[in-house]
Amino acid sequence: MFAPNGLTGPGDCRVVIDKTSREYWENAFARPPENSREISSPVRLALITEYFKGLVGETVLDLGCGWGAKSIALAKCGFRVVAVDISKNALDHLSRWAQDEGLDIGLVHASAENLPFPSDCFAAVLANSVLDHLSHTQGEAALREISRVLSRSGLLFASFDPQDDDERRRYFGVDSFKNLAAATGLRIAGTELTDSGSTIVYAAREAE
Ligand SMILES: C[S@@+](CC[C@H](N)C(=O)[O-])C[C@H]1O[C@@H](n2cnc3c(N)ncnc32)[C@H](O)[C@@H]1O
Repeated sequence: MFAPNGLTGPGDCRVVIDKTSREYWENAFARPPENSREISSPVRLALITEYFKGLVGETVLDLGCGWGAKSIALAKCGFRVVAVDISKNALDHLSRWAQDEGLDIGLVHASAENLPFPSDCFAAVLANSVLDHLSHTQGEAALREISRVLSRSGLLFASFDPQDDDERRRYFGVDSFKNLAAATGLRIAGTELTDSGSTIVYAAREAE
């Protein structure tokens, strides 16, 4: 029996979405919703700025910036922000927003697995709800890249949304992060479970 979208047969209502593809994210950011310039999670933002607070004035990478609310907020706090996304539509949105706000934010169209930056150039990396949309192979490559571009002892704030069993098999989750952290030169300083079931990982590049 023909089963579109990866459905396995009668009664299976799952729609398998490939969140690892560039097309998926270009479509997701094709049309900004009315609230695309709102901070959707002020609590999350407070945790990020608290973790990075000793680094105001330094350069922070917002990896997988999406609509860009966190980049805008960090720039307003006094960080120098470079935003990366695989979606050109997302970066175009942030470009217009930053211009309207008079903020100077670096915008780079790239993938997390292959960052076009020299080693040791960021004091901190924010990967909020990004790594959990990568495949395991992509996730491992992204961790190596994050570790490479972070300065020694530089900070990483990463968050992982809750995943169902099927997603856990397909995507890079918090357990994958924990298994690979040491091998990629990252040290986990702590984790936190949020009310919405997301896991936040506070990490840093090893000082060596
Ligand atoms: C769920 S959104 C999170 C957006 C933003 N970080 C936030 O907190 O609102 C995931 C983002 O990761 C980006 N993304 C997905 N795969 C990527 C990759 N391989 N490299 C860089 N960005 C990627 C998507 O385009 C999207 O902007």
